[in-house]
Amino acid sequence: MSKTLKINPLSPEPQKIKEAAETIRRGGTVAFPTETVYGLGADALNPEAIKKVFKAKGRPSDNPLIVHIARIDDLKQIARKPSGVSHALIKRFWPGPLTVVFKKKKVVPDTVTGGLDTVAIRMPDNKIAISLIKKAGVPLVAPSANLSGKPSPTQAKDVAADLSGKVDIIIDGGKTRIGIESTVIDMTTIPPTLLRPGGLPVEEIEKVTGPVQRPSTQHGNMPARSPGMKYRHYAPDAKMIIVEGDIRNMAEENVRKGKKVGIITFHRGHKIEGCLIKYAGSKPETVANRLFAILRSFDKEGVDIIISEPYNGGGLKLGISDRLKRAAGT
Ligand code: TXA
Ligand code: MG
Repeated sequence: MSKTLKINPLSPEPQKIKEAAETIRRGGTVAFPTETVYGLGADALNPEAIKKVFKAKGRPSDNPLIVHIARIDDLKQIARKPSGVSHALIKRFWPGPLTVVFKKKKVVPDTVTGGLDTVAIRMPDNKIAISLIKKAGVPLVAPSANLSGKPSPTQAKDVAADLSGKVDIIIDGGKTRIGIESTVIDMTTIPPTLLRPGGLPVEEIEKVTGPVQRPSTQHGNMPARSPGMKYRHYAPDAKMIIVEGDIRNMAEENVRKGKKVGIITFHRGHKIEGCLIKYAGSKPETVANRLFAILRSFDKEGVDIIISEPYNGGGLKLGISDRLKRAAGT
């Protein structure tokens, strides 16, 4: 069993933050909330601690980790001096759901970056996360706190379901505000490259940087620069498909075959006999907030097949549709 520490997200108790920070300093692992999803934290400058993170998650070692800092000033310890436009970008959006890829400095262990000469960095917008990083006095790696390949956790009980017994401490700081991961942007290329759509719409980034290159988010087409994107992600145990148009036929056909069918819809009032229907909301903020918990709840209920309506569009919708497609493995 991992130790659970319930911490007040609005006013984190210093004693509990201290306990978690000491575990980090000793080379341990602590799951903590951010504004996007829960992360599995460890000392980013301690290769032994980082190995524990890969092991607990079952993560391939060539998939690099994001380094989390608590002040813009902490950047110069781990990254080469940012360009003027990169600096403008982080001034505008940090703390927040934006991860920026910079050229790295030597102190960042190869275990963090999978041997790349770049490092992905972000400053989370969450009081527990920021107090923990400050108290630990070191930057923290923090991949999403799920088993590799599973949907990211948006609440402490989802972390526990995947990682209990495999990490030292799980902080329970309530539900995460955004619900999908940060947007990852590579500022070492000209123009900048979008590596993962996420909580911050790329259109907002472009207001600061000018046009951003957006590779197709289809499987296999992501640039080699973002190793993590080649793996299957967010995958529920059930088979999942995204169906354009009327989902009723496909749902009923599967029910007739004796399958337990789960449905994700973005419109209220669907009723299909024999199916478990989850309304994810219609506004992107609501859908982002609920999506991963819905995927996890279908697994808990032993659903065989998940049928989802598509959810396409720009802004936050781009990140959501990316997660849906990856969950479906398409
Ligand atoms: O919102 C988030 O970013 C969450 C919270 C916990 O902060 N963290 C998160 O980490 O989503 P993770 O490890 O699940 O995803 C990190 C992504 C992967 O796709 C990885 O390949 C990419 O960032 N990445 C990390 N370092 C990179 C680098 N140097 N160059 C390119 N991509 C990198
Ligand atoms: Mg992840």
